[in-house]
Order: sequence, then C-alpha cells, then structure tokens
Amino acid sequence: MSRLTHPIHDFRYKGGELYCEGVPVASIIRKTGTPAYIYSHQTLVGHYRKIAAAFKSLDPVICFAMKANGNLAVLRALAREGAGFDIVSGGELRKARMIGADMQKVAFASVGKTEEEILLAIRAGILLFNVESVPELVNINRLAGKMRKTVRVALRINPDIDAPTHEKINTGSLRKKFGIDLKTARGIFLDRKAYPSLCINGIHIHIGSQITRGEPFVAAIRKALAFMDDLALKGVVIEYLDIGGGLGIIYKDEAPQTALEYARKVMPLLKGRALQLVMEPGRFIVGNAGIFVTRKLYTKDNGLKKFMIVDAGMNDLVRPSMYGAHHEIIPVVKSAARKIVCDVVGPVCESADVFAHDREVADIKDGALLALLSAGAYGYAMASNYNARPRAVEVMVKGTRWDVIRARETFRDLVRGSFIPEYLK
Ligand code: LLP
Repeated sequence: MSRLTHPIHDFRYKGGELYCEGVPVASIIRKTGTPAYIYSHQTLVGHYRKIAAAFKSLDPVICFAMKANGNLAVLRALAREGAGFDIVSGGELRKARMIGADMQKVAFASVGKTEEEILLAIRAGILLFNVESVPELVNINRLAGKMRKTVRVALRINPDIDAPTHEKINTGSLRKKFGIDLKTARGIFLDRKAYPSLCINGIHIHIGSQITRGEPFVAAIRKALAFMDDLALKGVVIEYLDIGGGLGIIYKDEAPQTALEYARKVMPLLKGRALQLVMEPGRFIVGNAGIFVTRKLYTKDNGLKKFMIVDAGMNDLVRPSMYGAHHEIIPVVKSAARKIVCDVVGPVCESADVFAHDREVADIKDGALLALLSAGAYGYAMASNYNARPRAVEVMVKGTRWDVIRARETFRDLVRGSFIPEYLK
C-alpha cells in the first residue's frame, strides 16, 4: 500500500495535487507563503478517538502530551474530544487553562519543577503531580502545606528498561535522568506519612518515545505492577497508574502496534485491579496529523553531490538534524520530472541542516513546493529562531475550510524584549 493511501492521515493526492482533507495544499500556501505547518483536524481527533475507543472499557484519563504540539487550536480540538493534558512546565499549565482544559485531567511531569510552577499547579487543582525526586517531593509537600491543600502525587519510577528507540528519546533506564529508582521509591511509599500534605497513591512510568513494539511497554507495566503488589503487602494502596506515552507511528516503513493492539496487550494486565488508568500519548495523536511545507529555492551540484536547497531549515523542523529522523518528502503538485538523488537542505549555517541525505526526490522546478510528512509532533513545538528566522505559520484544515491557527512570526517578534544598554548607544 502506498504511503499516501494508508489510512493513517488525511493528506492525499487528487488529480495530481496534494490535498489536506478537502483543501488543496497549494491553495493554502498561495495565501500563507512558506514554510508552513498544516494540520488535519480529522486526522488529529481521529487518532485521539482510536486510543479512547481501544481503552474505553477502562475509562482512562487520556492526557495528550502537550510538548508534542502546543498549538492552542490543536489543544482545544483535543479538549473538546474529552482529552486531558500531560504538562511539563508552568507555560504548558497556562496553555491548558487558556483553552479551558479540565484541570482534573491534567498531570504534571518534569524532572525539575520550580516553586512558582508547583504553586501554579496546586492553585489550578490539577489531577496529579508526577514526581521524579525526593527533594521535589519535600518541596511540593511544603508548598501544599503552606496552602493548606492536599495534593495527589504519583512517583515516576524508573523501571530500568532499555526500550529499542533512538538513544536521545529513551528514558526508562537508570543511565537516564528520569524517574526514581525502585529502592528509593519503595522507601518513599513506606515513609509516606512523612509527607502529610501529599496523597502519594500513584505510579507513573514513561520509558521513551517512538517505541513501535508492545513488549517494552508490557515489561515496564509488569514491573510497575509487581512493585505495586509488593507495596500492597505493606498496606500501601496505589490508586493511579500512569503508563506514560511513547507509542510509535509510521514515518517510513515502520509497522508499529495500533491503538487496539496496544490496548489488547495492556488491558489484560490491569484486569481486576482497582486502578485509575492514566496515559500520556503525544506523537501517536498528532504526529501523522501534520505536514510541513517548504519551497524549493535552488539545486546545486558540486561534482560529488547534488543539493536541493529549500526555504525551511533545522530551526523549523529539527528532528532530522537532531535524531536522524526520517520524514517522507513529496511534491505538493505531482511532477513528471525525472528523479534525482540529492541532499535536501535548508539555508541555516550548520552542516546538520539537512532534511534528507541522498534521497531520491522529483527534480521539481525552482519555486515549487515540497511537503515533509508526519511532522505534526515535535515539529513546530521544537522550532527556534536560530539564524534570526521567524517561526513558520500554522494552519488547521477541517473539511473544506482552513484557518491560520498561529501567524507566521515577524521581525518584530524576533527583537521583542531586546534592549541595547545606554552605554552602547
Ligand atoms: N509523557 C512523558 C513523561 C514524556 O516525557 C513524553 C515525551 C510523553 C509522555 C509523550 O511521548 P510520545 O507519546 O509523544 O512519544 N522530541 C522527540 C521526542 C521527545 C519525547 C519527550 N517526552 C522527537 O521528536 O522524537
């Protein structure tokens, strides 16, 4: 099955033109210019619904990992579907509040929460703090006490499982900064009375991202459950199990588990247990729901290699540079042009500013458009202003309508908040 007829998203060629749902991508770009992120509303909510349906019988709290895509319209669309949010900063908490999220569906992870962020979250009345160290636990207890509140806490345990994924997005081993080792976590649970302002009754795991097979998840959950059972013998009751995110998606030719297959593996493990399931998918929900559109500027051939130079760079989409990630690159208008093998590169002054190495692409005309697929997760979210490049525009398509959901940044945005001291004037 061709990549574009696979039902993982709503970007398709019709009559040789790439459409997002009912809208030709080129018609959007004529108004917005490039580079541009374009999201399909239908793909977005469709993926949320797949997870919700697969796990329905357990009535989980599905907290979309906002770090994958923090666009307010994306968040709002998911909140309307009933999603909660996994947040990692005060900024994300404020975004959740801004789009009217149900705070009783918000979980706050992060290895280093500041006092200000903790206070903000206590005041907001979130569902769960996912705590990753003893000093942080002490801090949250102190601040909750001051505010005369009791705060629900899950300990993020580090199950010491090495999931097969990219080194930089593998989090479940003790060589990584994440979570609390089992021995320390056990000590905390047994000593939980030392934290009178906390209700420590949850366990959180997140072993990494873009994990395409079920086994590592199952192994981590089994480890968490065994840990729980051991605690139960000591009278410690765990009521919340947050199994994190990490579900892999198709970028190229991966064959990741579907939501249903994932549920079929996970649900039997939880059967008969009085546990509230929490999950934190990010990429699975939004990854295939977005494309990134750039314009070809020039081609050059240095005798050894060919380079296709486009008007977007690693500042716009860093995944290929940072993780060697693969994004399919296709012309927005199908081209009869012969194919060439080239590096598709941006204008940023770094050798790493490469979207694809030695890739076969259509030798489209200068000025023609290319789409990088599966760019909805960790795309715009990781964009920067490196090389004084304003961030791209974001667009959402729903059926035959489309809306700008975040304006392209301007030069003013780039210099906002900068000052030249008197002595330099
Ligand atoms: N929960 C926690 C605690 C996390 O740290 C993450 C992702 C998630 C949930 C969501 O994981 P997902 O379902 O999206 O895999 N920038 C990298 C990915 C970094 C993931 C960080 N944590 C990339 O572009 O591949």
